[in-house]
Amino acid sequence: MNRWNFPDLGIGVGLRTVHFRHILSKRPPVDWFEVLSENFMDTEGHPLWVLDQIAERYPIALHGVSMSIGSTDALDREYLRKLKALAARTRAHWVSDHLCWTGVAGRNVHDLLPMPYSEEALRHTAARVRQVSEILERPLVLENPSSYVEFASSTMTEWEFLAPLAEVSDCGILLDINNAYVSTFNHGFAPNVYVDAMPPDRIGQYHLAGHTHNGSHILDTHSDHVIDAVWDLYRRAYARTGGVATLVEWDEKIPELEVVHGEVLKARRQLGLDDRSGVAAEVYG
Ligand SMILES: [Fe+2]
Repeated sequence: MNRWNFPDLGIGVGLRTVHFRHILSKRPPVDWFEVLSENFMDTEGHPLWVLDQIAERYPIALHGVSMSIGSTDALDREYLRKLKALAARTRAHWVSDHLCWTGVAGRNVHDLLPMPYSEEALRHTAARVRQVSEILERPLVLENPSSYVEFASSTMTEWEFLAPLAEVSDCGILLDINNAYVSTFNHGFAPNVYVDAMPPDRIGQYHLAGHTHNGSHILDTHSDHVIDAVWDLYRRAYARTGGVATLVEWDEKIPELEVVHGEVLKARRQLGLDDRSGVAAEVYG
């Protein structure tokens, strides 16, 4: 169990616009949905109406891409205010973003850029995580990003940075198993080492996704089924943490919801769970 008692919501699916109609009309037995915060923070009307309907029927967690926790720019207070309001509106079980920066000097590149892994960056990021947690009045959960380049100035590996960051800033970890696989392949490390280095009681959620292997490097495309090596890594991580909410991401060439949910059923089989109809059906009727 993680230290904040984040519930094991089961194995959920990332909420995507193309599935709205199916979800509202068919009420599929999905355990929970992860909602991309930015898709709903600056909108009124239909998308928010849909989200309210879904939040009434399914457990929700929020996942963002714009906090830029590693940047040297000031924290965006207005963004955090909107995020807090959305979390309250959806009764989100937790709020996550990425260990990255997305811009500097007021310019946003809309990309999850890798951090320099140094003592200075660790202190800087930890202070910002504590600030964000205070503002949101809840622990922040940070996801390990997938990366393709590294800073020559880094003095430690990503896992040597993330594990102590979680301890000193008291944040949670969203361990993306696929990202750990992608990044360690791209940088020539063993993925087992990454997963084994994560403090189990800090892991509040897992991500699973497919990727595109280009021979010399892997692109984190979220466009395909989860590969066997990532399933192996997931089982390895899960054995250390026990029941932790897991989410299947699919963002390119998004298939029917049944196909994405097929990955959920596969995850259950990987963990030796029966094909029950889902936490949502039990909790929310
Ligand atoms: Fe992810």
